[in-house]
Amino acid sequence: MNIAVISFSFTGNNDRLAACVAQDLSATHIKITPQKPMTMGKIILDMVFTRTPKVDPDPDSLQQYDLLLFFAPVWMGHIASPLRAYWNYLKSNPQAYGFFSISGGADNGNPKLRSELLKRTGAEPSIMLDQHLKAFLPQNSKTTRNDTSAYKISETEASFLSSIAIKEINKLITDKQ
Ligand SMILES: Cc1cc2nc3c(=O)[nH]c(=O)nc-3n(C[C@H](O)[C@H](O)[C@H](O)COP(=O)(O)O)c2cc1C
Repeated sequence: MNIAVISFSFTGNNDRLAACVAQDLSATHIKITPQKPMTMGKIILDMVFTRTPKVDPDPDSLQQYDLLLFFAPVWMGHIASPLRAYWNYLKSNPQAYGFFSISGGADNGNPKLRSELLKRTGAEPSIMLDQHLKAFLPQNSKTTRNDTSAYKISETEASFLSSIAIKEINKLITDKQ
């Protein structure tokens, strides 16, 4: 099966996790780059006004793969805006896809991700996994979004999160065969 691992990251966590998963699966790892560099101001405007930033690579280049596994952060309860061009592409060119995130998890566990994917792509993801930075922070205090947003996962933490993702992906691949 020809699998592409496609990631966007603002502070490095999702790229790091995606790199581990791609290595474990021997899959191609493609990093998404916004044509205009992301800033905190741009993030907020994108999320408030539901903008779709221009990105590289062109979503059409994903046609050759059997399974697309996307990795990106959650911002303000929604999937990061640089993924939107790919959701638009999937809506007109349905393809099997999955969505993974290492997000903060400080708020309420991001309950809207699945319905957002369905609305934007027109199809349920074959697999979805939102893992949380909160799990790596001290559990005895009230964790805030500021605490989680500043946290960068280590190589060891990325390998741990990747092993959880790989179990789910392998189940999916077995079911598809
Ligand atoms: C502007 C902003 C908004 C965020 N909103 C959320 C959120 O709603 N839910 C959540 O779980 N994490 C939220 N986070 C935390 C990020 O999802 C988390 O830090 C993630 O690991 C960053 O991934 P990256 O390093 O790949 O960019 C937010 C971070 C930023 C910068």
